[in-house]
Amino acid sequence: MATILGKSSSNASDTSLAELRQRLDLSKMPAHIAIIMDGNGRWARSKHLPSRLFGHREGYKTVKNIVRFAVDLDIQVLTLYVFSNENWSRPKHETDGLMTLYEHATRAELPELLDNGVQMRFIGRRDGLSSSLIAEMERATAATKKNTKLVLNLALNYGGRSEIVDAARKAAQSVLDGTISAEAIDETYMSQQMYAHDLPDPDLLIRTAGEMRVSNFLLWGIAYSEIWVTETLWPDFSSSELVDGIQAYQSRVRKFGGVLTP
Ligand code: IPE
Ligand code: IPE
Ligand code: MG
Repeated sequence: MATILGKSSSNASDTSLAELRQRLDLSKMPAHIAIIMDGNGRWARSKHLPSRLFGHREGYKTVKNIVRFAVDLDIQVLTLYVFSNENWSRPKHETDGLMTLYEHATRAELPELLDNGVQMRFIGRRDGLSSSLIAEMERATAATKKNTKLVLNLALNYGGRSEIVDAARKAAQSVLDGTISAEAIDETYMSQQMYAHDLPDPDLLIRTAGEMRVSNFLLWGIAYSEIWVTETLWPDFSSSELVDGIQAYQSRVRKFGGVLTP
């Protein structure tokens, strides 16, 4: 399959990039956007397609479009929920198809991601992933690690609770090793044990397909994220709708538990 992420800014096909940017306050952009990309199965069903995998393949096109648009918007970090720990409970035909798609996509998109200065990373556990997928993930991570234009952080075989468990294990081991005392473990220390500890917490959490839940995504990091949910199914999600989400974010008042200063 041909790769689609190119150097040009033609991803905003529904409206011109300039028009979309005009709708935003560029001084108040979220540094980190996290997206729960939901609704691929419903999209396939709505089109009477024979398998949910058609929806996942269409969702891959949306990923390409949104990554390109995030580059155009100078977003620093985009975290995408690709596959949860709980998604293994789906039929084997679907999980096998998804793993094949991830492996193909990671390989196919690498040249364009390199061209666009995108750094690709993965968060989540490795158990259950094939060695060939892990090899592609490691190749893409190593090849793009010096890129600084956008961090594309992919949550693959990810669970918010398992991230916290893994962080707690690291902390417990450090106490056993004597490198830290139990009393010294605080929020800053725990944040440093999380998978993507060098990235800022998400400013904006978007969920497509209408469900009002976080489905075990980034539980530690989203403590103060602004949440925006759209009914649009992920394969239909456009650059223009990402702008809607960012506009909603820009209209919010973030107080972090404080009060507004008059
Ligand atoms: C999200 O779409 C993709 C993954 C979870 C892998 P779904 O496959 O959950 O689509 P719906 O929710 O069934 O429509
Ligand atoms: C969340 O979607 C996981 C991903 C988008 C990868 P799900 O479809 O798995 O979540 P639930 O089952 O509706 O909570
Ligand atoms: Mg779903």
